[in-house]
Amino acid sequence: MDRETAQQEIAQLREEINEHSYRYYVLNAPIISDGEFDALMARLRSLEAAYPTLITPDSPTQRVGSEPAAGFEKVTHPAPILSLDKATSREELFAWETRWRKLAPQAEATTYVVEPKFDGLTVVLHYHQGEFVLGATRGNGSVGENVTANLRTVRSLPLHIPLLPDGPRPPATLVVRGEVLMLLADFAALNRQLADAGAATFANPRNAAAGSLRQLDPRITAARPLTLYAYSIVSADGPLPGTQWETLAYLKALGFPVAEDVNRRLDSLAEVAAYCEAMHDRRRTLPYEADGLVIKIDDLALQAALGAVGGRPRGAIAYKFPPQEATTRLREVEFSVGRTGAVTPTAILEPVSIGGITVSRASLHNFDFIAERDIRLGDVVLVHRAGDVIPYIVGPIRERRDGSEQPITPPRACPVCGEPLFHAEDEVAYLCINEACPAQQVQRLLYFAQTLEVEGLGERTAEQLVAQGLVRQPIDLYSLTQEDLLSLEGFAEKKAAKLLAAIAASKGQPAARVLAALGIRGVGLKLAQLLTSRYPTLTELAEADEASLAEIEGVGPITARTVLAWFARPAHRELIAELYRLGVIAESVAAPAAEKPLEGLAFVLTGTLSKPRKQVQAWIEAQGGRVGGNVSKKTSYVVVGESPGSKLAKAQKLGIPILSEEALYRLATQAQDLP
Ligand code: IVH
Repeated sequence: MDRETAQQEIAQLREEINEHSYRYYVLNAPIISDGEFDALMARLRSLEAAYPTLITPDSPTQRVGSEPAAGFEKVTHPAPILSLDKATSREELFAWETRWRKLAPQAEATTYVVEPKFDGLTVVLHYHQGEFVLGATRGNGSVGENVTANLRTVRSLPLHIPLLPDGPRPPATLVVRGEVLMLLADFAALNRQLADAGAATFANPRNAAAGSLRQLDPRITAARPLTLYAYSIVSADGPLPGTQWETLAYLKALGFPVAEDVNRRLDSLAEVAAYCEAMHDRRRTLPYEADGLVIKIDDLALQAALGAVGGRPRGAIAYKFPPQEATTRLREVEFSVGRTGAVTPTAILEPVSIGGITVSRASLHNFDFIAERDIRLGDVVLVHRAGDVIPYIVGPIRERRDGSEQPITPPRACPVCGEPLFHAEDEVAYLCINEACPAQQVQRLLYFAQTLEVEGLGERTAEQLVAQGLVRQPIDLYSLTQEDLLSLEGFAEKKAAKLLAAIAASKGQPAARVLAALGIRGVGLKLAQLLTSRYPTLTELAEADEASLAEIEGVGPITARTVLAWFARPAHRELIAELYRLGVIAESVAAPAAEKPLEGLAFVLTGTLSKPRKQVQAWIEAQGGRVGGNVSKKTSYVVVGESPGSKLAKAQKLGIPILSEEALYRLATQAQDLP
């Protein structure tokens, strides 16, 4: 290639890369896969390596990341937030070791630390005297965005360190680096909830995490299930551990979540390479998406001495897993109806193997997604698969079109009951609004049975019960007889008796669980728990007014309205009364012993609370907690109401975490999420 042709291609590549990195970093809406992006960058790097005089300071190879978006304040990082070099094979790992050893010939046998390479968003967390005071995104590596208010809502992020009273005291200033991400299960649940509410879903957990963290309204972030993992210290004004392994242990002792189950300290690169290869299969069992592992020289002084090139430290490297993506042909689109009536498209694919599993169906999310990516029938599409989440289509490979591809249009009628579909202008969902639609009845029944853990009631049985007219709504389950069940194909005495026993065993549930099982739009288990923490019985909840519902932290005005609209219908009130009469909802409001979320925690109350102090105390005790009169080192939390007394100052002095009353209720309802 001559210089001029190279120059032209370089210019074109830079333009393309800039656009994709803007879409990725600023808009959170990439249109190509990471693999495709990496290929563009690799091509640009190789051309620039061949013609070094064509390198300009503004080439995408010369900077790390992209500019922060407008709307957030900018934060200058105390030290550069470096990126990582990549290796994709054992050979490349050994080549890395050879490279750095040349620069540090005196280094003897070296220990490495291996960590997951989280596929989320880098965050930089500033603590002053143990208080979380500032949190920023990575931005371009030197300047990020101030997302403190949003980060405060991430439950696994410690707002005070040490989190536990007997943890080590941190230095006065401490800046920690970590990754914010969405667990695969949370991602799937969030998308289900968004789809139910007729909103656009996220294409992958990374986008969901980015879209949630970079919200100008922190209340939205608060409703999103984000998780943090910490992995390094950016700066501090006190002595720090000398190795990466000790740093991880130190972060953990301070109260930061670290990926203990994956992190390893290994004595040779051969062991590292073996561990990397063994992780190819194990990655599927991880609760989050990891696109590789990060290998770091354990000795931090050696790491620092090796320095960095092009924003990448020489003493660490990212080992990328083989892609969990493949291309195949989109043969057909199947439409199915969910319990809220939303019609969702599923791709039927020419079977393709991804990471050892044959994939023949994949999610297409919704019709907006199909239109945005311009996905057509007959297209060759890129399919991504991670964990146990349903594989999804990333987009079409336009270059492989031959003109025979056909557009995909939303159906006009419900594919199951044939009633016309409803599509609101400003919503994504196409809805079947026929409550008697058998597909909805089946899905509602299934959801109810799953939420109340009725064993043996799978999709097939739910379909049979609805088709035979034995169950129209979930509560009909409780009047089923042995005879009814025997009339179903495949049911003999034993199976029928087993199912009846399982149905009977599903009675006596806490109000929150049954409320969630009803499948009201936007009301999952967490929200139901928030609601019942204020209104212990559904009868009380039915009488609540919109303003007091919306006052509960974590309950938005839309959900408040949906809940009240649901309870306003006489049939629904009767349903609730019947659920109590049948004993499906337990009468007692005290949490059962197994569900004492505040067990072992000591609280001190100060200031005026929204309810009489005795009542709050009784509630804490019912949740397993203790309430004391004086703040001491043994106090777990101080709950602060209006005009707090001297106890607040004492708590601050001792570094005891402080909770608002709302935060107390949240602590109890979501304690199972705490690390
Ligand atoms: S260490 C000098 N450790 O991956 C240290 N990075 O392509 C440099 N990442 O943007 C980073 N998990 O945010 C490190 N365990 C981990 C990581 C990790 C994910 C991110 C990091 C960076 C990207 C590198």
